Order: sequence, then structure tokens, then C-alpha cells
Amino acid sequence: MVLSVDFLSNLLLALLQFSDPQDTSNSDNGSGRVVGYFTTWSSRPFTPAQAQLLTHVNIAFAIMDSAGSLSFNDGGQTVLQVRQVANGYPNLKVMVSVGGGTNSQYFSNITANPDLTNTLIANILNIIDNYSLDGVDIDWENPTTSDDKSNYVLLMQTMRSALDQHQIDQNRDSSYLLSFAGAPGQWALDPGYDLPGLLNYVDFVNVMTYDYYGTWESTTAPPSPLYGAGAQNPTLNVDWTLNYYTCKTNQSSKLNIGVPFYAYYWNNASALSGSDPMYRISNPLSGGSISWRDIPSSWNLATASFHDVDKVPYIYNPDTQQYLGFENGTSIYYKGQYASQKNMGGLMIWSIDQDDDQYSLLQAVAQGASGLQNSNTVNYQC
Ligand SMILES: *[C@@H]1O[C@H](CO)[C@@H](O)[C@H](O)[C@H]1NC(C)=O
Ligand SMILES: *[C@@H]1O[C@H](CO)[C@@H](O)[C@H](O)[C@H]1NC(C)=O
Ligand SMILES: *[C@@H]1O[C@H](CO)[C@@H](O)[C@H](O)[C@H]1NC(C)=O
Ligand SMILES: *[C@@H]1O[C@H](CO)[C@@H](O)[C@H](O)[C@H]1NC(C)=O
Ligand SMILES: *[C@@H]1O[C@H](CO)[C@@H](O)[C@H](O)[C@H]1NC(C)=O
Ligand SMILES: *[C@@H]1O[C@H](CO)[C@@H](O)[C@H](O)[C@H]1NC(C)=O
Repeated sequence: MVLSVDFLSNLLLALLQFSDPQDTSNSDNGSGRVVGYFTTWSSRPFTPAQAQLLTHVNIAFAIMDSAGSLSFNDGGQTVLQVRQVANGYPNLKVMVSVGGGTNSQYFSNITANPDLTNTLIANILNIIDNYSLDGVDIDWENPTTSDDKSNYVLLMQTMRSALDQHQIDQNRDSSYLLSFAGAPGQWALDPGYDLPGLLNYVDFVNVMTYDYYGTWESTTAPPSPLYGAGAQNPTLNVDWTLNYYTCKTNQSSKLNIGVPFYAYYWNNASALSGSDPMYRISNPLSGGSISWRDIPSSWNLATASFHDVDKVPYIYNPDTQQYLGFENGTSIYYKGQYASQKNMGGLMIWSIDQDDDQYSLLQAVAQGASGLQNSNTVNYQC
């Protein structure tokens, strides 16, 4: 996941007040979920335009310590600001996401200990109450041992019961929501995720169908290819992952396809990896990540290519030997078509604060999710 922390501007923006919400919510109208993660280190505020296009917003992240205590790195300013905007959009669900790629180290010990598990759950309920939230998203990256695998299900089972009891205690009409962020790769899924067990207790899964490629490895490609044509590893694509989740559970309508609003670039990418020009080799390995909104200032989008089969755009600049793998409105269109064909329940975004000021990508995601049916008919060869 992409971290570009700018605490100062975050703090300044957190001081701005956003009022005058209008009740023009178009969410929850029978189409698919549009779930957006919004980071506490965003340098821009959450806006009414985003609230209108989303069905769910996940504040990322509540950070835990070894005792199961939770805090926000900005003292809760982001969640307050999102909550305030969301008040004008009653159908928009606001959730807190717990953990994340850099704060998952305590899940293993906490879920192995019933007292710590109960403490963690009590602290999640405190946050839900304190900020009037609709539920929680667990982002454990990743359970790895067989104990983790069963303890993760136990955490979800206990959390589900606690949320349902809390609903009764609070006299709340609708149930609190529970979801988790699911790994894309077989290396994490096989050892750590009891998918049928987990899906017994959650409302939906935010499948992190991205980071199949990134600058930790020398092979270049966009972060989220829909299919694997030309790839050396046939598991590194969206289709492989959703086939796995669907065939293990028969519950495609609980799955949201993850869409990255960021890109990776590589330097020194003059060599081809094979015969497919989308796959090159960065040698010596060098590169980084960039938000969608920042791409136009350093790359010429008019020079991009689009992979006919894998349905993702990329740029190779032979003068600088630089390569960019990214996502745009067209690749998102194909992910929406795929979600429709395969009976997925929605689309998810990491992260909406990386969109441009016209919300080009978020609009494409909302459009892509608008035709989805609530069906579990399996359209895969399992
Ligand atoms: C809801 O319906 C409107 C109008 O048909 C559509 O534009 C929108 O994308 C739909 N879905 C959501 C999640 O708002
Ligand atoms: C988990 O518990 C073990 C055993 O008490 C301890 O050695 C380890 O440091 C703990 N891990 C973390 C991340 O706190
Ligand atoms: C509740 O929210 C306030 C800000 O409104 C914050 O100062 C406080 O720490 C929060 N408490 C919890 C338990 O989250
Ligand atoms: C999914 O449904 C198929 C067809 O009914 C069935 O054979 C299979 O066992 C089911 N798998 C799971 C995980 O429920
Ligand atoms: C690799 O790329 C970096 C950044 O563009 C550049 O400074 C460096 O000279 C390149 N190395 C080689 C061996 O081409
Ligand atoms: C996405 O990138 C491809 C390749 O450059 C381009 O053909 C397509 O028009 C782009 N889509 C959008 C919506 O900009």
C-alpha cells in the first residue's frame, strides 16, 4: 500500500470545517457496492462529491498496540471530518478499518488470547459509538500460521456476536457491518485464510486485487492486470484471485474487486522480460509509487499503451528507460464489466484520496458498479 504521509497539511485541513451537506445521496439504490478507503494521512479533505459516489467509506486506519488499544495517527480528525460530510448522505455507510499493511503485527497474539480479543472488540465498539460509525473493516495483512487461520475466524465470529448484541443494546434498526480486506495472492490465501469460515460472519470482503506487481520486484507490469496473458506467473491477476475466492465459497455477491488509484514506476527498464512488451525488467532495480492525481505532471498519458487481453494501461519511455504501470477509466470499465459477468457484489478502491480533482476514477468505479446484480450464480470453472 502506498504511504505518503503529510502530517502538517493533514492537520491544517483537519481544521477546516465542512458544513452545508445536501441530501442528494444516490447510494444504496440496488446496484453494487462502491467501497472507498480514505486515509488519515490524506492531504485533502473528504468531499460531498465523494460521499455521493460511494456506498461505503472506510477510514484507514485505526492503529492497534499489543494490548489491543486503538488510536488514530491524527487524533481522530479525519474520522470526524468524514463523519461530518457523510451526515448529509444518510445511505453512505462509514466504517473504521483496523490494522493495515504496516500495523498487522499484533493480530496474531491478540487473536490467540480471548481476553485481548475481547479488549480489541470493546475498543472497536468504543470507536463506532464515539464517531457514530456503521461498522468495522478488519485489515490483517496477513494471517500466516494455522493458528492464525482459525483464530481469524474466531475473531470474526466473536466480533459478529458483539456487533449484533450492540445493535440490540443501542436499539439500532440496521445491523452493524463487518468486512475484511482479503489478500490477493495464493501464498497468503492458502496458509492463512479460511474463506468459507470467514464469510460466515462478514457482510462483504474487500479483495485487494492489486500489488500483483510493484517496485519490490524487477518485473514491470500494472498493479492490477485483469487477466494473465504474457505473464510468467499465472496467479498474478484479478481473474485468478476472484476465481479462487468464488470457488472456495460460492458467495461472489460478498466480493468487492479492489481497484488501485495509484501506480508504480520503474527505472532502468530497457530490457524486455519475455515477448510481451507490458513485462519488462528493471535492472538495476529502481522505482517507486505515484498517485493517479500526480501522474500527468511527470508522465505523458498520450504515449500510453493498453494491453488488449489484460485490460490495463502502461507507458514505456525509451528515452528515459522509465516504465509506468497504472489504472485508468478504461481498465476500470473492464473491471466493472467483469464484476457484472462474474456476479461480484461491488468494487473497492485504495484509496479515494489519490483521485484527481474531477474524481475521474471514482466516477468510473461508480459507473462500473451500477449494473451489478445480487446473485451468487457461479460463472467460473471451479
Ligand atoms: C444509483 O443510481 C444512479 C442513477 O441510476 C446511478 O447513477 C448510480 O451509479 C447508482 N449507484 C450508486 C452506487 O450510486
Ligand atoms: C507475541 O507474543 C510472543 C510470546 O509472548 C512474544 O515473544 C512476541 O514478541 C509477541 N509479538 C508481538 C509482535 O508483540
Ligand atoms: C472520541 O472522540 C473525541 C473527539 O471527538 C476524541 O478526542 C476521543 O479520543 C475519542 N474517544 C475514543 C474512545 O475514541
Ligand atoms: C459450490 O456449488 C457447487 C455446485 O452446487 C458445489 O458442487 C460445491 O461443492 C459448492 N462449493 C462450496 C465451497 O460450497
Ligand atoms: C538506473 O536508473 C536511475 C534513475 O533513473 C539512474 O540514475 C541510473 O543511472 C540507472 N542505472 C543504470 C545502470 O542505468
Ligand atoms: C486509458 O489508457 C489507454 C491507453 O493509453 C487509452 O487508450 C484510454 O483512452 C485511456 N482511458 C481513459 C478513460 O482515459
